[in-house]
Amino acid sequence: MGHKVYAIPVEQTGWQVADGSGTVQFSWEYDNNKEKLLNLYDKGKRRQWDAQKRIDWTLELDPMNPTGAVDEQVPIFGSEIWDKLGPKERGELRQHLAAWNFSQFLHGEQGALICASKIVQNVPEIDAKFYAATQVMDEARHVEVYSTLLNKIGLAYPINENLKGILNDVLTDSRWDMTYLGMQVLIEGLALAAFGLIRTFTENDLARSVTAYVMQDEARHVAFGRNVLKEYYPNLTQAERSEREEFCSEACYMMRDRFLATEVWETLGLPTDKCAEWMKNSESQLAFRSLLFMRIVPILKDITLWGPKMRDTFEKMGVIGYADTDLDAVMAEDEKIADEIDALRVAQVDETIAAGRDLA
Ligand SMILES: [Fe+2]
Ligand SMILES: [Fe+2]
Repeated sequence: MGHKVYAIPVEQTGWQVADGSGTVQFSWEYDNNKEKLLNLYDKGKRRQWDAQKRIDWTLELDPMNPTGAVDEQVPIFGSEIWDKLGPKERGELRQHLAAWNFSQFLHGEQGALICASKIVQNVPEIDAKFYAATQVMDEARHVEVYSTLLNKIGLAYPINENLKGILNDVLTDSRWDMTYLGMQVLIEGLALAAFGLIRTFTENDLARSVTAYVMQDEARHVAFGRNVLKEYYPNLTQAERSEREEFCSEACYMMRDRFLATEVWETLGLPTDKCAEWMKNSESQLAFRSLLFMRIVPILKDITLWGPKMRDTFEKMGVIGYADTDLDAVMAEDEKIADEIDALRVAQVDETIAAGRDLA
């Protein structure tokens, strides 16, 4: 599987969290199941896949342009800093940006693996434990695929401080719903949007298929969080809901700022302030950061965390317009795209087998 080359040595970035896992809950109500969750559990079982078989790892990937995307996709494209870079430096920058991006996905997936297993322990209902168990397996697979992909890129980055901060808050909170809210809604909701952008803009078949297959699983994970919290939150007091909105608001700002990729500019010795400044003001980057919230905004509305604090945050971030996104349609599309890529792959395998038979 190769070996990861970290831009910053792992010895300097090790992390241990004293988790506030609270009370492990057993449930003796084995038959008290909700149809929606059981349907998701069934789907989760049926949709398991083997990353070594479903993905063609022999597909080429150019480390100097891992996603094969056009230069306009580089966050500082158009700036003076970009204009001064030669072809070698531009290749290096593309490699570092892709390594940084996929590394955050990789570490986030490990966070999801840990959170999903925590839900198995802490959530009171048996059907939620069942479903979370399928998610544990999904997340292990996601760690596997991003790890393998990063080895092909040949470089990795440590976890970003903002992502670490949110994970730390989620893991040290003993209330089971906070694990769902932080992981299934915020982190996975944002990851889905970021994956979606990669799926659209990448010209590389390997990066595209990895992303589309992971998204197919993530759509279920987000639906899980949404179903459970939609039932739970209306029963909380306004004060309890407001506290959660505070948490979401702060997390949304942190997640938006993590995309400034400051570690990359620092590592490459580029002027960090100027790069960040450019990204904060460039029109395409503003559009990019706004698209990241396309799924989170309607989900928070749907699970009734939609008080003044939340609406005000999204107004200020300029993303309130996503409130009326048709989530079911977006998620159905995620499933469809993965199925289409898969159908193409199966057709190619069949063709290869048929060609082999003709030769025999
Ligand atoms: Fe995942
Ligand atoms: Fe997930």
